[in-house]
Amino acid sequence: MWKEEIQFFDCLDSTNLEAHRQAIAQAPEGCVIVAKEQTEGRGRRGRSWCSPRGNLYFSVVLRPKLALDKTPQLTLLMGLAVAEAMGMQEANIKWPNDVVIDGKKVCGILAEMAPVEHGASPYVIIGVGVNFRTDGLEDGLQSTAIGLDDYRENKQHIHDANLELLYDILDLFQEYYEEYCRQGGFEGFVARYNDRCVNCNREVAILGPAGEFRAIALGVNAKGELLVRREDGTEECITAGEVSVRGIYGYV
Ligand code: BTN
Repeated sequence: MWKEEIQFFDCLDSTNLEAHRQAIAQAPEGCVIVAKEQTEGRGRRGRSWCSPRGNLYFSVVLRPKLALDKTPQLTLLMGLAVAEAMGMQEANIKWPNDVVIDGKKVCGILAEMAPVEHGASPYVIIGVGVNFRTDGLEDGLQSTAIGLDDYRENKQHIHDANLELLYDILDLFQEYYEEYCRQGGFEGFVARYNDRCVNCNREVAILGPAGEFRAIALGVNAKGELLVRREDGTEECITAGEVSVRGIYGYV
């Protein structure tokens, strides 16, 4: 099991960066890197990920035998595993892979591939950051972020809660990943994902390179794309990475 391959660090630049270093040095699939704190935590779209102590930061090395254009589907799978591992109905997914509670982000997921210039065997890193507390986060994040400890009534010691959640996420994600590889795609997860997707049947603002438009989100398809219906009734599929999706009344 992958949880037997976990390496714990006190402080790292980024668990994704450490996972890259180890993957380039031939780390096997399922190698897991965890840190209590990150000094250069990386977020999507070149942003940073604020990473004070008290939250959960980890990355998994994968070596999937898949076409590279399927990589975004792995982040949807991880989002599903994280939301389910939290064990509460209130944990949902904002497409493509933010986990949200009460309309606020509790977890971010970042997939990165092997750099093109490096000739070793291909790999994908999936990095996950879960907020347990928001008091150490930058001021600007307080309105859109939530911590699991802020939400849960029954607070455990942070370290225990962190580890318990980490093991549950890894167990679920490994199960889903193996099923996904056997099936060769995301189709078998569509219904389960859409059940947790907060965007489904809600109006969203789609912000892409060509500007912004509003539409009703209908749910993901078997490729993990978000199917939306414009006001004129036409439907289109939105690919993660190209665009950002926002609820019209706020973050969700
Ligand atoms: C996002 O922008 O929503 C994605 C954030 C991903 C953060 C995690 S924390 C663990 C791993 N290491 C990093 O540097 N980033 C990811």
